[in-house]
Amino acid sequence: MKHIYTLWMKLQYIIPTGYRYSENVIPTTDISSLMGLKISHRDSISVDEMAYFNSKSRRDDILLPLNLFHSIRIFLLCFLFSSLTPTFAQRIAILGAMPEEIQLLESEMSHINTKTVLGFQFKTGKLNGKKIVLTETGIGKVNAAVVTTLIIKEFHPASVIFTGIAGGISEELKQGDIVIGNKLTYHDYGMLTNEGLSTNATRNPITKQLNPLYFASDSLLVLQALSVAKEVTLQKMSAEASQPNISAGTIVTGDTFVTSSTAVGHFEKTLQASATEMEGAAVAQVCFQQHIPFLIIRSISDKANEKASVDFQTFKKIASDNSATLVKEILKKL
Ligand code: ADE
Repeated sequence: MKHIYTLWMKLQYIIPTGYRYSENVIPTTDISSLMGLKISHRDSISVDEMAYFNSKSRRDDILLPLNLFHSIRIFLLCFLFSSLTPTFAQRIAILGAMPEEIQLLESEMSHINTKTVLGFQFKTGKLNGKKIVLTETGIGKVNAAVVTTLIIKEFHPASVIFTGIAGGISEELKQGDIVIGNKLTYHDYGMLTNEGLSTNATRNPITKQLNPLYFASDSLLVLQALSVAKEVTLQKMSAEASQPNISAGTIVTGDTFVTSSTAVGHFEKTLQASATEMEGAAVAQVCFQQHIPFLIIRSISDKANEKASVDFQTFKKIASDNSATLVKEILKKL
């Protein structure tokens, strides 16, 4: 008991409490009730009683239970606070451009509530134990930027994850494979000359500074995505197809559905692109300018060549689900 008391006395200099005793500060109401003395109803206290009251051992008898009671109170408060922490944890925002891209995630969410902002529907709830807010941006850079801005303003997410499909640029990518976009840039922002389009960096309208030409996804989220990649089981495009691969690469964004092998060669040569889509860099730019960590994940639905329109229709569902499956695994680790 003595050790606990000594420890408590030391702790009182670290934790400010209302129970720091000195010769001058004694909570008389507590003491009188603990001592069983009705001091206020008595005219005088005998010399013996006074000596007993002032003795250290008697004070320990009185104060120790009070201190222990207070310690338990602090402990319970800490316990309550730590158990409530997930309730106060920031949400993770998850975006997809088309209904197919978020369907799997929505079907597995619990505690769903819908909030409509300027006509856009945001679904809050839980997925794999994490608080999320899920929404469909619509296709293209403007829609993606509008919805990313709204989700940041309304829900203050800890991070933004985009899930969806893309046209494969790298030769080795096949339908169903996943590209974790570690770098994002536009393929249609810049200067149009007689020689064609030369891409430029965008400018941050808040700071007036040039943005980087390539927006970097949050490195921790990229690492987490790559580490869960080993554990995830993805759908194959056909019985004969090999298991889909997951790799990190550069994603290029533009307001065009690409169906040209010439463009594919150009994006690979000039921008070192692995995949192309229509929203990623816009989401990345908004997040970069607002200092929000982001990650763009895409599964390949087509090869952005002359067969792209047909392949897109055939493979969009499986590719969408593969991307969403990886997002679900990432959530488990956050
Ligand atoms: N999303 C999926 N395939 C695409 C393509 N070929 N071009 C642009 N966005 C895409």
